[in-house]
Amino acid sequence: MRGGWTSGLRHMAAALLVALSAPVAPARSASTQSASIQGASTGSAAAPGTPGPGAQPQGMPLPADLLTRGEYVARAADCGACHTVPGGAPFAGGMAFHMPTGTLYAPNITPDAQAGIGQYSEAEFIRAIRQGIRRDGATLYPAMPYPSYARMTDDDLHALYAYFMHGVRPVPAPVVQDGMHWPLSMRWPLTLWRRLFAPDPAVTLQGAAARTFSDPVVARGAYLVEGPGHCGACHTPRAVTMQEKALTAEDGPLYLSGGAPVDGWRPVSLRGENRTGLGRWSEQDIVRFLATGRMPLGAAFGGMTDAINHGTQHMTADDQLAIARYLKTLSPTTPASAPGWAYDPTAANALHAGDAGARGARHYVDSCAACHRTDGRGYPTTFPPLAGNPVVMDPTPDSLIRIVLEGNTLRATKQAPSAFVMPGFAARMDDAAVADTVSFIRAAWGNDAPAVNAADVARIRRSLSPEHPPATLPMN
Ligand code: HEC
Ligand code: HEC
Ligand code: HEC
Repeated sequence: MRGGWTSGLRHMAAALLVALSAPVAPARSASTQSASIQGASTGSAAAPGTPGPGAQPQGMPLPADLLTRGEYVARAADCGACHTVPGGAPFAGGMAFHMPTGTLYAPNITPDAQAGIGQYSEAEFIRAIRQGIRRDGATLYPAMPYPSYARMTDDDLHALYAYFMHGVRPVPAPVVQDGMHWPLSMRWPLTLWRRLFAPDPAVTLQGAAARTFSDPVVARGAYLVEGPGHCGACHTPRAVTMQEKALTAEDGPLYLSGGAPVDGWRPVSLRGENRTGLGRWSEQDIVRFLATGRMPLGAAFGGMTDAINHGTQHMTADDQLAIARYLKTLSPTTPASAPGWAYDPTAANALHAGDAGARGARHYVDSCAACHRTDGRGYPTTFPPLAGNPVVMDPTPDSLIRIVLEGNTLRATKQAPSAFVMPGFAARMDDAAVADTVSFIRAAWGNDAPAVNAADVARIRRSLSPEHPPATLPMN
């Protein structure tokens, strides 16, 4: 998230100055928000206002299936992607968000009363998740995806609370916070942001209840993607003031149309574009990708690896199918007349004939073809194909440059237990060689995507330099 949020924070500060110089009439007032919180609590096992651990109401045993359900919701909502570091205790705090003003760490959300969230009542917990308001009333930085979580149902949040209070082991160690300067140490700009841009859960839930779907599977998919799955937090473009430009499919075609690169990894479009979206993916391709991070058209990397490892691979097959079916309802943003991808054998024929005269072809043969093959078809689900791969044709080439410089590991999942490594070429290739190689894979095999230049490579190489360390974040 670092890259996007870093510049985003600057934009936010600028926008807030503008907002402050005019009289501000926040679209949603604080009183409406607290009113909706009263309505949000479910009032059962752990009553609002009751602190967490040890607060288990006497004589009222928690049903085991409530904890199991809560654990499932935590996975569907991917809480661990940010609040757990690899090798660390579950939910004991984690991911670092580097910003010009300092580094913010996702806090410890185990039920420890001091270091964690043990003192949160259910109502306070629900308010934090849906509205981004901390127990002490401070606004949470919107890296915590509360604009999507606003859609989560009372039932799911009730189970989630029970799980965090009674199913997660308390960890007494606080997360070390290093110095935070303005504006993060001063949270009022975040409060203003929240009032202007975060959805009001009461309105959101009413809208969701009024929505009709002809297929209950699609309805479930819409809930999972737009709500707990917060897929739009990465896959939807943001305005200069950092709010997502669309929060649901109903908000129009910008929804899930591709987000800004996060740490150099670009979340691609999940809509129906033939070349650059999921137009050529079947429901089963999507299910396979969500379960294993690999499918015949490509493999997972960047933030998607975490979304899969902490989240989607643990979902039931029914829920994975629901997500797939829902995504397949999203119309392409390209005109229906736009030519689809079709394999073009010219580049492969030339390479087979020993002709490596095309820009970047020599580098491709020397460094890449052993795994991705001269015909660009790779060895699907082990070495992803580059021919016809939406990631390779994406309008933004950042991820391609980054993966060639740094390499990546396709991690093991429950259903795909072996890991495969793509080596990094930063030490072996200069900027021009990387640009040529990436331009080759974007042009060959019918891909026909625009070339990249050495300046793009230099920019991304700089962002991966030791002063700006890359792969240490769990979200990578
Ligand atoms: C994309 C990253 C991300 C995800 C996913 C995420 N969080 Fe957070 N969360 C954060 C960050 C960052 C903060 C701290 C924000 C701040 O201090 O302004 C935070 C803060 C919180 C807090 C406030 C804790 C306190 O300090 O009092 C709670 C509670 C919380 N998260 C619970 C959850 C739960 C439960 C989930 C899953 C439903 C979740 N979070 C998912 C990033 C995330
Ligand atoms: C040793 C085998 C190997 C070599 C050599 C190799 N790759 Fe890869 N490549 C992989 C693997 C494995 C992945 C999947 C990595 C992941 O998803 O984390 C991958 C992924 C990719 C991707 C992302 C595709 C997707 O859908 O995830 C691109 C683009 C790519 N490689 C380009 C190249 C280029 C260009 C070269 C040469 C400079 C190269 N690779 C060399 C094995 C290799
Ligand atoms: C933390 C950011 C992040 C989140 C959250 C996230 N994604 Fe992704 N996603 C990415 C990135 C980056 C890529 C591009 C790399 C790749 O293909 O794995 C991607 C790729 C994908 C692809 C493959 C597209 C292609 O053409 O290769 C699918 C499908 C997908 N995401 C679905 C989802 C769904 C469904 C969710 C919500 C449950 C989700 N993503 C949440 C970052 C994210």
